[in-house]
Amino acid sequence: MPMPEGQKPEETSRDRCVLVCQNTSCLRHNSQEVLNTFIAEAENVVDVNIEASGCLGQCSTGPTVRVTPDEIWYYRVQPSNVPKIVTQHLQGNEPVDNLLNPRIHPRF
Ligand code: FES
Repeated sequence: MPMPEGQKPEETSRDRCVLVCQNTSCLRHNSQEVLNTFIAEAENVVDVNIEASGCLGQCSTGPTVRVTPDEIWYYRVQPSNVPKIVTQHLQGNEPVDNLLNPRIHPRF
């Protein structure tokens, strides 16, 4: 099927998006560096977009990172965690269990 006029091939709805909160509370806990590290580490990963986001509603456990369309939410993410998220989740399709936000991904 031909691509609709104006749509770029890399902007399909199946692309992953990594949203890194850049609101006040997360910024106080280093989320700008988390965002910068994602941009650097995921530079060559296909079908992944890295974006700054507003508050994701998980301020007390930030920096918050949400991966769509997977709907995987990470909490207390630091720059040192980013390479593992990129290789294990974004490239290997296996979310990083110990960084899953327990409010959204409860452990039974
Ligand atoms: S400030 Fe980051 S989740 Fe609210």
